[in-house]
Amino acid sequence: LVAGIDSSTQSCKVVIRDAETGELIRTGSAKHPDGTSVDPAAWWEALQQAIAEAGGLADVAAAAVGGQQHGMVALDADGAVIRDALLWNDTRSADAADDLVTEFGGGTAGAAEWTRMTGSVPVASLTVTKLRWLADAEPENARRVAAVALPHDWLTWKLSGSTRLEELTTDRSDASGTGYYDPAGGAYRRDLLARALRIDQAAAEQIVLPRVLDPGERAGTGDAARGWGELILGPGAGDNAAAALGLGMTPGDVAISIGTSGVVSAISPQPIQDPTGMVTGFADATGAFLPLAVTLNGSRVLDGAATMLDVDHARLAELALSAEPGADGLTLIPYLEGERTPNLPRATGSFVGLSLASMNPADVARAAVEGLLCGLTDGLEAMTEQGVPVESVKLIGGAARSAAVQQIAPAVLGREVQVPEPGEYVADGAARQAAWVLPGAAQPPSWTTSPVHTFTAAPTPQVREAYAARRGLYAERD
Ligand code: XUL
Repeated sequence: LVAGIDSSTQSCKVVIRDAETGELIRTGSAKHPDGTSVDPAAWWEALQQAIAEAGGLADVAAAAVGGQQHGMVALDADGAVIRDALLWNDTRSADAADDLVTEFGGGTAGAAEWTRMTGSVPVASLTVTKLRWLADAEPENARRVAAVALPHDWLTWKLSGSTRLEELTTDRSDASGTGYYDPAGGAYRRDLLARALRIDQAAAEQIVLPRVLDPGERAGTGDAARGWGELILGPGAGDNAAAALGLGMTPGDVAISIGTSGVVSAISPQPIQDPTGMVTGFADATGAFLPLAVTLNGSRVLDGAATMLDVDHARLAELALSAEPGADGLTLIPYLEGERTPNLPRATGSFVGLSLASMNPADVARAAVEGLLCGLTDGLEAMTEQGVPVESVKLIGGAARSAAVQQIAPAVLGREVQVPEPGEYVADGAARQAAWVLPGAAQPPSWTTSPVHTFTAAPTPQVREAYAARRGLYAERD
């Protein structure tokens, strides 16, 4: 048996599968505090609870961790966590992100230089900006930094029982979300780490960064003191790369995941470098690349609309589906928690086009669903502009279960969408990686993928046109 772990922004999930067939044997899950700044100990606590709920690891031969990307887990020389981890959805480092781009020429020139160096333009989500924030806002903490890990790196290390910083590991997919790793060249950029922390190169060389393992390479074994001495650990991955592995994505496949974040991801055989910053040029978990367009406002847009209308999600979907496309001229620009794609970290959301005709629950619900989907369609279009192949689109994540999202997505995207049966794709991808690492195989095992439901609808380009016009006005005001 193999175990796959998904340590997400809100909870930890564990799936235990048969290593050869992929058959699902047991599962467990546990919630931990969410938010934007969290003590990593809470993830470890939730992981242990989820493992216990899944019946333990005594009969499991290998495990791997998929985790929320970018979170800054700063460790001191003794391996202790220095402060709460700052997560991907924490925007306090927005000014630091601007400064880091300015230091390389600013504007288009600075953005182009960053994409050349690291594949991505720094935004507040990326670890490099959080380190700069730490150096400026908490210099005493910054001086104590002896190692910097990401959530999945730290949890793999905890599973191993090691307290030696030199034994920290990561993989290409998560390393490429730090902003101080070059996914195309496959190496850390310690000059950028030095710049972020405002230290010299020699001091940056002393900071331990997790060793970047190849896909399929072993990270080590589990903690013998917990009875996991025989457990083989995989390198793990960032959650989006793990989901791509869980879905069995290959070039041409696109996943739109609507969880806390909204993520458009695709597999590219070549590295992607988009200086507009719409698409990040990350690596995947198989040796290829995983361009992403990530919004900060995913399923929370629907949560917010349901709260505003005082209805549950099923009723919100009914209301949205009872309205006409275009919501009688009402558009929601859903930048409720700031936005990252486009990069407007200080933005708030707006309803634009309220009239007596549109100021009703059905149109408000429709505008919320359309606004959410328009932002993601912008991301998909940006991928196409970068030459990323797009042949089929799968919709996953909590909000993919909304009947309104399922039926309105093909209209807004202007193409058929497939909705796989609900599943734990991140944890499944981690499990598939564990089954790959266990025998030391050249490729991940081919497990059968979940059945999909296909949705089609007449395209509604007018909805996107209205959104594009209003989003532009909004961005100028921000
Ligand atoms: C990816 C990103 C989010 C987190 C969510 O760049 O920031 O998708 O990984 O867990």
